[in-house]
Amino acid sequence: MIENDRFLRALRRQPVDRTPVWMMRQAGRYLPEYRASRAKAGDFMSLCRNPELCCEVTLQPIERYGLDAAILFSDILTIPDAMGLGLRFVEGEGPVFDRPVRDAHAIEALGVPDPETELRYVMDAVRAIRGALGHRLPLIGFAGSPWTLATYMVEGGGGSDFTRIRRMGYDEPVALDNLVAKLAAAVSLYLEAQVRAGADALMIFDTWGGVLAPVEYLQFSLEPMARIVEHLKRVAPEVPVILFTKNGGQHLEAMAETGCDALGVDWTTDLGNARARVGSKVALQGNLDPAWLLARPERIETAVARVLASYGPGPGHVFNLGHGILQQTPPEHAAAMIEAVRALSPEYHKT
Ligand code: CP3
Repeated sequence: MIENDRFLRALRRQPVDRTPVWMMRQAGRYLPEYRASRAKAGDFMSLCRNPELCCEVTLQPIERYGLDAAILFSDILTIPDAMGLGLRFVEGEGPVFDRPVRDAHAIEALGVPDPETELRYVMDAVRAIRGALGHRLPLIGFAGSPWTLATYMVEGGGGSDFTRIRRMGYDEPVALDNLVAKLAAAVSLYLEAQVRAGADALMIFDTWGGVLAPVEYLQFSLEPMARIVEHLKRVAPEVPVILFTKNGGQHLEAMAETGCDALGVDWTTDLGNARARVGSKVALQGNLDPAWLLARPERIETAVARVLASYGPGPGHVFNLGHGILQQTPPEHAAAMIEAVRALSPEYHKT
């Protein structure tokens, strides 16, 4: 049993003493101790491939803030890298693939990586973190959604307007269906292996689902995520699964139908409105605008109060940012947010 199980209880919509809190990208460049570990590793992928350093950086925000969950330190692009696309992180440019996937033939040739061999370094990191955490805190494992992975694989990197892959969806829908189906199989095995290695909860990051028209969202993003949830509920029914489509506010009802346990909500959707639409079906995680953490710390408490009030009383809320913490965030501002959640949230859990 996990000693601090607030996060797992909230995902199951069970009563808690206060709202649990963690932050997307909580281990990252805004922390000086992360920058020191990354310098030791040399570069980002070398850090991801070193289980001991992964463990060290995973624990840094836990030690600094006392959060209610740890998240595996890794990246969503480990799967396409293991598929042979040749991942590099270019300073100031983000991820780049040397061999992007541009046609049906290239998609046909892709294999589904075996998590315990080709992605062994990730599973070793999960085992190392589990060992270091003991039973103190839950550990979140994660993967990218098939659609989000496909955007990087087809475009060859990030930061574009996704015209190549959107065109593929219109010109060659069968090819794109094959790509996301193959990725759904890969993500299913990868997340299942993370559970075997010691993850207590799982999150699927669909960072770019929100760029699709509704019909294509259902086809290329939600449907493959639903297949992953179905797989996980068969092999590990006790492990809560969180789905997060950034800018997916209009799709929350459809997302809740997948059988997942919780939905990540970004700051462009009102949390109270989201709860009214899906609240008895799933828990909700979010949704403070990460830019709030650039504001003066004395202002941050009012923002936290608003998010808590918007969700309202009762269980089923995990406090988080609406997307990853920004690199330029002063670490003390994150502390002010966490402090405010601790101080203000017990009020919402009195029976
Ligand atoms: O939340 C956590 O603390 C766990 C670690 C984590 C990272 N990436 C570490 C990371 C998680 C969950 C991710 C997911 C991820 N990676 C997503 C989905 C979530 C999201 O933010 O929308 C995406 C789209 C990626 C792909 C990716 N990896 C990008 C676009 C970048 C930024 C590139 C850049 O140079 O700005 C990365 C690199 C990355 N992943 C960093 C970290 C801490 C920064 C790398 C560094 O140290 O230079």
